[in-house]
Amino acid sequence: MSENDPVTTRDWYTPPRGAKTPRDTPLDPVDTRVPTSRYTDSGFLEREFELLWSRTWHLVCRESQVPEAGDYLVYDLGKRSFLVLRGGDGAIRAFHNSCRHRGTRLCSGRGNTGRRVTCPYHRWSYDLDGRLREVTDRDTFCPLDDAAYGLSEVAVGSCAGFVFLYPDAHPPESLDAFLGEVPALLAPYRFEEAVTTLDVSMPCSANWKVLVEAFVEMYHVHAVHPELLSTLDDVNTYFEGLGRHSWMIVPTAVSSERLGDRVGEIERLEAFIAMMAQGVGVRSRDHRSAGEETAGALRRKFTNGAGELVLPGGSSVRDVFLEMARKGLEDKGFDLSGLREEQFLDNHQFHLFPNVVMNCYAGLNMFLRFRPHATDPGQCTIDLLLIELIGDPEERRARRAQHEDYAEGEVSLGEVVDQDTDFLPEVQAGLAAGDLEHVTLSKQEIRIVNFHKALDRYLPRDTGG
Ligand SMILES: [Fe+2]
Repeated sequence: MSENDPVTTRDWYTPPRGAKTPRDTPLDPVDTRVPTSRYTDSGFLEREFELLWSRTWHLVCRESQVPEAGDYLVYDLGKRSFLVLRGGDGAIRAFHNSCRHRGTRLCSGRGNTGRRVTCPYHRWSYDLDGRLREVTDRDTFCPLDDAAYGLSEVAVGSCAGFVFLYPDAHPPESLDAFLGEVPALLAPYRFEEAVTTLDVSMPCSANWKVLVEAFVEMYHVHAVHPELLSTLDDVNTYFEGLGRHSWMIVPTAVSSERLGDRVGEIERLEAFIAMMAQGVGVRSRDHRSAGEETAGALRRKFTNGAGELVLPGGSSVRDVFLEMARKGLEDKGFDLSGLREEQFLDNHQFHLFPNVVMNCYAGLNMFLRFRPHATDPGQCTIDLLLIELIGDPEERRARRAQHEDYAEGEVSLGEVVDQDTDFLPEVQAGLAAGDLEHVTLSKQEIRIVNFHKALDRYLPRDTGG
């Protein structure tokens, strides 16, 4: 390196464990091609239901979304529907959402069942632990073995305050085995103590994997989100596979290596405040961003008497915001001593195979899940949660979110997410046009490679996968 070369993130950043920048990532050419049919073919979608979704753990909800006995949440995936239910004993169970009489869906959405789950068709009812309780006009049936007519239960587990289910009572591998290192990496964030402050679902006209893949690489940032380049380093983002899962670490409040040393600290401060103003949340497309208030406060904090943005003597934007984040959470009374310094500022983003992405910051988890459409490989549903550590009990109550469903594009989910969701149907349209046999991946897309290698275990390519 010559004296005049700019110092890059790579020169000073110490990533945890074996995380690597793309330059240092080995890549086998065999793994770089993914058949386009995986995104567009109805037969492949069906095989995913049969071979993947019926044989993997699913992240279904947060424990705090079913806090009281009788609280339920219905989790739909394709044609299947599961009832997640808190019992009188405090345990969370999950059942096929179907009456044992003639199959009727028992519940929809979320709510509280009271002391029993009652079928709306003929009013058969079940205890909260799934046992058959009452059969209307039982004497008109041939003798029923009640033990064989309980709700059909599936396996559940939990991690970091999230509830998982396996769509069978006897999973071939435990949730712990499935998650591997993920629980230990999530534990220091203490998300089990956090409040869900946004809970939104919205369809998107693209395959669920197109959505996953857009969120696990940084290669498109310079094209689709160029305004972010002043405040994060997309080039020196670090990647690490975690078995089927993976994570990346995005250095934040520094600038992209693509910009060289063109961005000064005050310009970076300006860009960082602008990024905060974009925020994430639901609003009408022309409504003021929820983040603008925060950004306004930041702008006032760093403006001097002459109306100029300034930083405290000698500090970098990164130093200032690392300290602010840590102090803010300490003041709220949370013990986040298990987090490394970088975790107070940098996005540590997890891909939980197959369909969940968690953007983890100290005190905030921006959670995305992408569920496939039952029959159309070109459609999916986005479930977006914001999960925040809030100390004040009054504020915790006030900010707890109700679930909201929207039509595609009906509301904004924040500018960066909108840039992706507005754009990804164009990706799907290009894939579906039929003139491309495979997509081609680079080292910067190594997490997509990792994702498809994991998929291969469920859907081997030599069987049309
Ligand atoms: Fe994006």
